[in-house]
Amino acid sequence: MLKCENLERLDDAARGEDSTITRISKVPAPKITAEMIRAMKARGEKIPALTAYDFPMARLLDEVGIPLMLVGDSLGMVVLGYPDTTRVTMADMEHHVRAVARAKPRALVVADLPYGGYETIEGAVTNAKRLVTAGAEAVKAEGGREILPQVQAIISSGIPFLGHLGMLPQHVLEEGGYHVKGKSEPEHQALLADADALVKAGAFAIVLELVTPRVAKELTQRLPVPTIGIGAGPDCDGQILVTPDLLGMLPWYSLKHVKPKLNAAEQMRSVVKEWKESVEA
Ligand code: KIV
Repeated sequence: MLKCENLERLDDAARGEDSTITRISKVPAPKITAEMIRAMKARGEKIPALTAYDFPMARLLDEVGIPLMLVGDSLGMVVLGYPDTTRVTMADMEHHVRAVARAKPRALVVADLPYGGYETIEGAVTNAKRLVTAGAEAVKAEGGREILPQVQAIISSGIPFLGHLGMLPQHVLEEGGYHVKGKSEPEHQALLADADALVKAGAFAIVLELVTPRVAKELTQRLPVPTIGIGAGPDCDGQILVTPDLLGMLPWYSLKHVKPKLNAAEQMRSVVKEWKESVEA
């Protein structure tokens, strides 16, 4: 596990005398690269990944030593208030990638190519470069063989690529909901073929979203690159969550694959209420 004995990388503000951060090591920790994430599998190290959309969250996750931070297009739902991810634009993604990058995280910063952002090979490369200019160090797009030319072009342009198979949230409207993938034999075979194709193209890891645990386990054993699951069972090489789901910041929705570990929404309500009443009094 890439541990967080690296807090040396935090900038001067966090190094101040009253910083509460414990400095464990004086050795500057290396910046995490896509290659390092890929290599974690060979060493049997699990990969805990989370989403970040802004400076404070990026900084907090980095202080804990999360090795991979995704500026996911889930920001459309959990930050911008859209019903799904299909309305997120390149401008939205760039805005949030910049905010995360300002935290100068040691973690690998991956950004989602949004809906409509990789329909053509040229568009995919142009938009991947825009995300890198904003501060991303790798990009993710949803799909397998159907987007292979785009994936190959992105990787050929020197940008590390994270795959995303299984339930593809950008297809939620045509699929009519969020359905588990890999239950039928054709779906199972399609997942194997898509994953093989992404690995051959050079993806450094693959997110498996809502894939049956059996198929996720098979993919994890089959692939030379890490699988990072979300609602795909315990046998993936890593797990990723949408951070506000983990923290209980969205009490209006309930998800099967994640039980909040904190009731942040309730705590925020009660602190705000207490403060409001103190002002009113
Ligand atoms: O956008 C996102 O947050 C994602 C994760 C669910 C993997 O793609």
